[in-house]
Amino acid sequence: MPATLIVGAQWGDEGKGKVIDLLAGKADVVARFQGGSNAGHSVHVGAEQYVLHLVPSGILYPGTINVIGNGVVMDPVRLVDEIVHLEGRGLKVTGNLFVSDLAHVTLPYHKRLDEANELKRGADKIGTTHQGIGPTYADKYGRIGIKVGDLLDEPVFLAKVRRNLAEKNAFFREHYHIPEMTEAEIIDPLRGCLAKLAPLVTDSVRLLHDAMKAGKKILLEGAQGTLLDVDFGTYPFVTASHITAGGALSGTGLPPAVLTRQIGVVKAYTTRVGAGPLPTELPPEEGERLRIIGREYGATTGRPRRVGWFDALPVRRAAMLNGLTDLAITKLDVLDHLDEIPVCTAYRWKGKELAEFPNRTEVAQECEPVYRRLPGWKTVTSGARKMTDLPDNARRYLDTLAELAGVPMGIVSIGPKRDETIFLKEF
Ligand code: IMP
Repeated sequence: MPATLIVGAQWGDEGKGKVIDLLAGKADVVARFQGGSNAGHSVHVGAEQYVLHLVPSGILYPGTINVIGNGVVMDPVRLVDEIVHLEGRGLKVTGNLFVSDLAHVTLPYHKRLDEANELKRGADKIGTTHQGIGPTYADKYGRIGIKVGDLLDEPVFLAKVRRNLAEKNAFFREHYHIPEMTEAEIIDPLRGCLAKLAPLVTDSVRLLHDAMKAGKKILLEGAQGTLLDVDFGTYPFVTASHITAGGALSGTGLPPAVLTRQIGVVKAYTTRVGAGPLPTELPPEEGERLRIIGREYGATTGRPRRVGWFDALPVRRAAMLNGLTDLAITKLDVLDHLDEIPVCTAYRWKGKELAEFPNRTEVAQECEPVYRRLPGWKTVTSGARKMTDLPDNARRYLDTLAELAGVPMGIVSIGPKRDETIFLKEF
């Protein structure tokens, strides 16, 4: 059975949590393939709201198996906190959640490094979530990382921690001039959580391949967004993982042919948290109104998100990089009050018009948006359940976004609840 990928087509926070939740109920297996506890997927189920950081969104369905794939970086303490919280709310986790033995582990020294590095960068800081994501991936690619499988082998784990801690402490002392960490600070927080974690650890590659061979429906749950991809995003203002379709394969071990549907999630406008270019960013007062209506505050950090108009260029880039087959457009309702809505169709840079998002971040930082202005609809849209329920101008707006992106629309979301959704296709 082919797999479906759900990927952010902007700078993250596109509303993937809701879209994944809509499809997870029909999936047999939901797998995360990159990122870590920097992600924050908000899902509304009736009056309940869940914010998931490491656990895949399929956990909200009792019949769905959830996998934290090999490409994820996993903070054991945060994962166990999240599991305990979900179990406390009556959800079945044991037996429904599995963690790859190949995933890399985030430890307290990674978080300390993340914070110290940001502080040292000063005005050039990236605005990370301080979850230790970059330093964990740096250790992975530096070939000194510690894998989930090592966590269960105490002598091996301790030897690796000791070696790494000596190195990190030299760095803390000599480069950052901050206090060193003790072994107890690394090991003690893990003592309470290993018993909970051990039964979840598995060969996720085998699990996913068996599911594929058995014809199970697999959903690959992306975190962050394409423009935060370490290769294709606005480097260095990116996260440290491979967010795109290629990352979905390397982060799970599934073969390329399994991927037949790639759903790109976009907001009807644009937001970004942290530093880096955002060509359609609104001035503070104008942005504030949309921020409040759209509740644009980070699910992991609570930081206010930067807000801008819809920008076709990042979405076209995401369409190309992921081979998007469907667009899921979220938060249309946030624009209900506007008289007129600008949509960015190109950039102007040094007298030239650019139709594609530039590779160089320095160029992206200097680009001026070229806008097409579309009429607003001034009608509440959250009650719509089919396209014909929407005002003409709202339909025209959505058609314009899909046309500019070059990807057909599959889903439109007009509110956080499960039923505040219009399906244009069968999923
Ligand atoms: P890191 O992933 O914590 O290293 O942060 C690197 C950049 O990615 C920063 O700009 C963060 O704000 C951004 N980022 C990380 N995770 C998310 C997310 O889930 N949504 C939106 N932005 C994110």
